[in-house]
Amino acid sequence: MEKITTIDKNLFIHYAEKYGTPLYIYDADLIVKRYKELYNYIKWPKLKILYAMKANYNIGILNLLKNNQAFLDTVSPAEVHLALKLGFSKEDILFTANNITDDEMQEIKKTGVLFNIGSLSRLQKFAAAYPESEVCIRFNPDVYAGEHKHVQTGGAITKFGVLLSEVDRIKEITSKYNIKVVGLHEHTGSGISETDKIYKSMTNLLEIAHQKDFPHLQFIDFGGGFKVPYKPTSARIDYAGFGEKISSIFSDFCKRYGKDLYIYFEPGKYIVAESGYLLMEVNSIKNNRGRLIAGTNSGFNHLIRPLLYDAYHQIENISNPDGELKIYDVCGNICETGDCFAEQRELPEIREGDKLIIKNAGAYCYSMGSIYNLRSMPSELLVAKGEEFLITKKLSNKALADSLIASAIK
Ligand code: LLP
Repeated sequence: MEKITTIDKNLFIHYAEKYGTPLYIYDADLIVKRYKELYNYIKWPKLKILYAMKANYNIGILNLLKNNQAFLDTVSPAEVHLALKLGFSKEDILFTANNITDDEMQEIKKTGVLFNIGSLSRLQKFAAAYPESEVCIRFNPDVYAGEHKHVQTGGAITKFGVLLSEVDRIKEITSKYNIKVVGLHEHTGSGISETDKIYKSMTNLLEIAHQKDFPHLQFIDFGGGFKVPYKPTSARIDYAGFGEKISSIFSDFCKRYGKDLYIYFEPGKYIVAESGYLLMEVNSIKNNRGRLIAGTNSGFNHLIRPLLYDAYHQIENISNPDGELKIYDVCGNICETGDCFAEQRELPEIREGDKLIIKNAGAYCYSMGSIYNLRSMPSELLVAKGEEFLITKKLSNKALADSLIASAIK
């Protein structure tokens, strides 16, 4: 078995005592490892891995990836501004536009970052405003995949991308305004377990690239979606085999196209999910007619994936790992019934004061968090080669209240 993390279990208790709970902890070494290993798996020499920063936009993590020459996939103007401020160069960032306003379009255009446009209406507005520009076009690959219906972005029922059948309209608009299509893009879904579906999406997009004469292409971007095993029983995907297969598909395509293009991928989850832990403390144990409920000092405002996607996250009782196994609902402190991290989960006996960790909490956990119920987001700790860096600080209850008063319009 691959040793996933360099963080030793005993350290969690030390972190809890030193920094308090709830606390997000990230293993910096694993993030770098995951980022770099994709370059080993996918041997195509012209390859760029763009980290999808929506998965975790923590500045410590972004700096870490920048120091490892990462590229970025961004989805909002503030993500672009943050990336530029941190020193990513505009050439290393792609902006995927999704229902943006005209003002946002102007704001991004000024930065010089390349647009990835996924609707005919936005392309028409972009082309009319900025003739002779370069652009990437996002297509709906006509394949649906992903670990929950809310994270499937291709196929019949999705707001994303231009339909493959609309390619002639793309050609009309781009030729009218002398727009150079330098990239074609698709993103099928998140946490894709069926690699066949990825290959199908790829070939659908490459077919368009081949048939429809896009003479200025520099890259084809196949999005993110690399699966991470959340359940202990889930298999790890053979990404080395996957890399070989896609290099071969792409090499065939480039021969037909007449030029070796770049391949881009945009993983978020794969790079950061496994690196993260949410460390929390149990405040109360309740026995509701035989149903044991462990009430913690965190909640779905800090980690919403179980509630939103029915996602499974492994939980460990690090204070009592050898305790007698019992069945628990592990809940939070938010005033809603759905505020549960796990229902009817077998865990070593949980006592009040015990510390629990939720695993695979590095992607779409903090970044999808909120201060609902007016509870601050947790602090965040980055651990790099055993060294601890507190990268975000939790607000005290009073500071949180003050921050609302400070941002109110008087
Ligand atoms: N590129 C585009 C255009 C995307 O829309 C996404 C994710 C990615 C890349 C990165 O996908 P990834 O490699 O992380 O699967 N909050 C959900 C996932 C939503 C993904 C949205 N788009 C979750 O927690 O499962």
